[in-house]
Amino acid sequence: MNVLLTGGMGYIGSHTAVALLQAGHRVVLYDNLCNSDAGVLGCIGQIVGKAPLFIQADVRDTQTLSDALTRHEIDAVAHFAGLKAVGESAQKPLAYYANNVEGTVSLLEAMTRAGVCSLAFSGSATVYGEPRYLPLDEAHPLSATNPYGRTKLHIEEMLRDLSVSDPCWRIVCLRYFNPAGAHESGLIGESPSGIPNNLLPYVARVAAGELPSLSVFGDDYPTPDGTGVRDYIHVMDLAEGHVAALDWLGGHPGCHAINLGTGQGYSVLEMVEAFAKASERAIPYQIAPRRAGDVAACYADPGKALRELGWQARRGLADMCASAWNFQRRSRETGFR
Ligand code: NAD
Ligand code: WQD
Repeated sequence: MNVLLTGGMGYIGSHTAVALLQAGHRVVLYDNLCNSDAGVLGCIGQIVGKAPLFIQADVRDTQTLSDALTRHEIDAVAHFAGLKAVGESAQKPLAYYANNVEGTVSLLEAMTRAGVCSLAFSGSATVYGEPRYLPLDEAHPLSATNPYGRTKLHIEEMLRDLSVSDPCWRIVCLRYFNPAGAHESGLIGESPSGIPNNLLPYVARVAAGELPSLSVFGDDYPTPDGTGVRDYIHVMDLAEGHVAALDWLGGHPGCHAINLGTGQGYSVLEMVEAFAKASERAIPYQIAPRRAGDVAACYADPGKALRELGWQARRGLADMCASAWNFQRRSRETGFR
């Protein structure tokens, strides 16, 4: 299959490119590099033996996108491109609507022009809002608590409307839980610019001595140790989930939602302990007030992915922490993030 990856130079896109190439597919990466580095291309090349094709452009450039789909005889698109920082989305909501919602409208227009109907969309468990029950299955009611989440919700609704309007569409919204870890080579991984918002990149920098200590946001949640519980999923498992989903889409018209999670929740303190073990470093932390908008616990019912895609996560917490630490050390050595 020929697959175009919007946002393919980013954290999840680059790992998915590796998984697709290793499964024998051809890929074209399409990214404006607003949150990634051109050096990622060479790293993917080092892992798989040959750098993939890369087009530096914005998804809102509909003509360039539709030309790329036609010229490279694309069969399916994996759509990762977008902005993803929850806090920033409250400060700059229009940037989020423009990038995420308008960007997706442009992509769908380009796909229509080029006659490409298969799409895997980077959804998020954030569309479940405050959990009414756990584990979260795909039938859980949807809501959003911040502009970023609303863009994900609007896009899902738009995709459902589109699939009703024309039966040619084959769309899957993959609702990711908490992606973590890196490729085992340590060449690609998650490298947020500035102070990380997400737990594991923050912990990795504390372990490396680049940040003094972690603030644990709340220890009075109704969870076993009082800290927030999340479903962390290894980014290579997530990448392989995309390969399975794109294969599956061929025989499944319509618009589908599928969770990509492990079903296992870990608390913040369990994550700190696992990372300290993997890195053999102390992780100093202090308890801080709850972070606005956080929920106590969030984890997936991953049953639909297994039933439909034949996919389930294979890698555990130790692997997520070890690979994140390996990436942290390598990126320090090479100076490349
Ligand atoms: P990322 O920022 O590392 O990757 C996104 C990529 O898209 C970047 O390379 C960026 O340069 C590119 N991009 C952004 N806007 C673009 C545009 N207008 N045109 C072209 N390229 C553009 O983020 P990620 O963690 O890899 O996330 C990928 C997708 O998965 C996003 O849609 C995100 O919302 C979603 N998601 C991420 C998480 C997470 O925790 N990482 C969880 C759930 C869902
Ligand atoms: C995990 C846990 C924090 C940082 C976010 C988005 C979500 C999705 C994934 C895109 C929580 C605690 C964190 C810190 C801490 N992204 N924590 N100290 O909030 O589950 O999900 O990323 O779709 O939409 O909201 O992930 O990694 O920020 O937090 O104690 O410095 O770690 O309170 O319990 P979250 P996270």
